[in-house]
Amino acid sequence: MEIKLWREILNPYTLAVNEIIVKFNHVIKEYKDRGEYSPIEQVTGRVKKISSILEKAKKKNVDLDDIEDKIEDIAGIRIICQFVEDIDKVVELIKGRSDMEIKSCKDYIKNKKPSGYRSFHIIVYYNVETISGTKRIKVEIQIRTMSMNFWATIEHSLQYKYKGNIPPHISERLKSASDAIIQLDAEMSAIRDDIMDAQISNNIMGSLIADILTNIQQLYSLANKREVMKIQDEFYKIYETGDIEKLEKFHKELDIIAESYRAQKL
Ligand code: GTP
Ligand code: MG
Repeated sequence: MEIKLWREILNPYTLAVNEIIVKFNHVIKEYKDRGEYSPIEQVTGRVKKISSILEKAKKKNVDLDDIEDKIEDIAGIRIICQFVEDIDKVVELIKGRSDMEIKSCKDYIKNKKPSGYRSFHIIVYYNVETISGTKRIKVEIQIRTMSMNFWATIEHSLQYKYKGNIPPHISERLKSASDAIIQLDAEMSAIRDDIMDAQISNNIMGSLIADILTNIQQLYSLANKREVMKIQDEFYKIYETGDIEKLEKFHKELDIIAESYRAQKL
């Protein structure tokens, strides 16, 4: 294989990573729009650097003509969750999708690696459309909690610094940090319902306030300024109470007022 073909080879992987990021971000949006908790907190992705592909091919004795077949993480997606429980939900979500076919899974959460690494890995087949037709490629999806991600990020930097030979006193520390993270995730899971409730009402409150302010702004161009000022003052008063039900009631009333002004304008 000639070096000048690299870009051509990697292009479909770039497309896949970009598309999948958009899709998972849309999943987050769908949950939020419904006022529900999203099991996905954040999604990132990358295409493996050519130097890393070459390095891995050498390490694993992979012929350069076989890299697309044998190296499964040329396209990599990382899904970060808040709670361990969310990981199963995300796995189910992926299983249910018609645009991704699961090739294999590795559960390093049930069976953590000797290093202390924890994460759920899925290799999926994913089709991208290119000008030369449909190309079916493999994508590695890593699903982990925020704290697992913290650990893996730190450990990865140290692997890099020590070129894969982390000194024993540091790797021992990392192992105990990994145990501490299991504990941390468990503690957070124990108060998961409370945390989720708080976040959902935060979100609802946020969009409610945005809706009300949009309506008030629209009224400025339609109604008597003094009247709009009165409405705004009333909004601030209710806002100060922090009472979501009162705000919802105010929002509905404001909608009716705004609608009647719009009707008058016609
Ligand atoms: P590679 O580890 O990628 O050579 O392939 P593999 O077939 O062994 O797959 P595995 O599922 O073990 O690892 C895939 C990816 O998971 C790696 O490329 C890393 O991103 C991540 N990973 C696996 N093990 C570790 C680890 O001990 N520490 C960190 N930080 N990341 C890991
Ligand atoms: Mg490995």
